[in-house]
Amino acid sequence: VRIGVLGQGTVGGSFSKLLRERQSQIELVTGTKISEAGTLTRSSGSFTEILDNADVIVEAIGGVNDAADYVTEALQAKKHVITANKQLLAEQGQQLWRLAKENQVQLRFEAAVGGVVPIVRTIQEALAVSPIDAVHGIVNGTTNFILSEMESKGLGYQEALGLAQEKGYAESDPADDVQGRDAAAKLAILSLLAFGTTVNLSDIAYRGIEEISPADINYASKLGLSIKLLASAERIDGGLSVSVEPVFLDQAHPLSQVHGSHNAVMIESTVFNEITLSGPGAGGNETATAVLGDLISIITGGASLPEHTEDLQITSEIISPYYLHLEISDRPGVLSEVAQVLADLKISIESVVQEAVSSTAADAQLILVLHQSKSTEVDKACQELAKLKPVHGRPRAVRVMHSSA
Ligand SMILES: NC(=O)c1ccc[n+]([C@@H]2O[C@H](COP(=O)([O-])OP(=O)(O)OC[C@H]3O[C@@H](n4cnc5c(N)ncnc54)[C@H](OP(=O)(O)O)[C@@H]3O)[C@@H](O)[C@H]2O)c1
Repeated sequence: VRIGVLGQGTVGGSFSKLLRERQSQIELVTGTKISEAGTLTRSSGSFTEILDNADVIVEAIGGVNDAADYVTEALQAKKHVITANKQLLAEQGQQLWRLAKENQVQLRFEAAVGGVVPIVRTIQEALAVSPIDAVHGIVNGTTNFILSEMESKGLGYQEALGLAQEKGYAESDPADDVQGRDAAAKLAILSLLAFGTTVNLSDIAYRGIEEISPADINYASKLGLSIKLLASAERIDGGLSVSVEPVFLDQAHPLSQVHGSHNAVMIESTVFNEITLSGPGAGGNETATAVLGDLISIITGGASLPEHTEDLQITSEIISPYYLHLEISDRPGVLSEVAQVLADLKISIESVVQEAVSSTAADAQLILVLHQSKSTEVDKACQELAKLKPVHGRPRAVRVMHSSA
């Protein structure tokens, strides 16, 4: 089997190196002789030549346009393709999977979600015919690192972002990561795998971590909660609710212990309760390891393509407990005004913490944890609460998730 490698950056370069280092082991395990059919960068190599000489194309150039052209051409030429490109799959996955099927070749993408964490093959193979009720993932290492630093060291958002950039966990333009778009692209892929339903990037209401303040984290920790940016797809009322947003998790929740730049995905099912997989979500060697696993599967003939099996109605509605943070004037009667707004929307309160901003200040922070509520009702509550005179600024609502154990 001859392998052509497009891109020689962090992932492509590590993969080519790994291929040379592991050649004899790969040949031993698969009983197949392997060789590299050429590499492509912006300044070296010829795609046409590589395509002619290869049986498998590894796409590790990133971006959408050129990657889409190369992958399309490779599939049309009946070459198997391995890609680490979540953006490409989130935007054009359906067409590419169809093309792979028509040409009877494989399109594999383990590295596109969760780096080395084998989530794609777990859903696609181990759980291929098991009913899945929900998938919740920490699928962006940059934001998990930032939130972990804010939580453990009490840093502000900007400070933690600066540290992530210094350590190479965040790019100089971190917008896609911190605004939740990267996680949304991965969620689109996970949703198709787990529910057989096409979810477009535009279907996903995504919210990032930029508005999370040290005060939120501080109060939540008093309530025994820790914060994660979660990408969630869950069956609700016969439809599929998809969202990317910061969520407070209780300490017993399997995803609450995933710290730093690690990724983790939790799969829920009435049949097997819960499976959580975690590990490094990025890095050259880590991602290349996932690509290598895909190569072994192709050589040994594993795995089917994701099938479109269900047309679930996509929604961003969630039913969940919520944390609500209000800045208020510290005077009698405010709590009852707030409670009245919530009661009018049939939202009930689980617990309340009120703290003065300082011993002399007339302002206070009011933190409420709400019982199970519809996200649309909580949004309405935030709008109504913002109109109350004693409420300053914009109320912040964050979903709270408890462990099912
Ligand atoms: N880095 C990670 O940890 C990680 C983790 C999971 C998934 N991924 C995904 O893996 C893919 C590659 O990421 P990366 O971090 O390896 O990127 P990278 O370090 O920027 O490397 C990109 C490589 O592709 C080449 N390239 C870019 N555009 C090209 C074009 N139009 N034609 C030919 N060659 C082109 C570049 O060539 P030059 O050398 O000439 O610039 C470079 O060698 C992306 O889809 C990314 O989302 C990365």
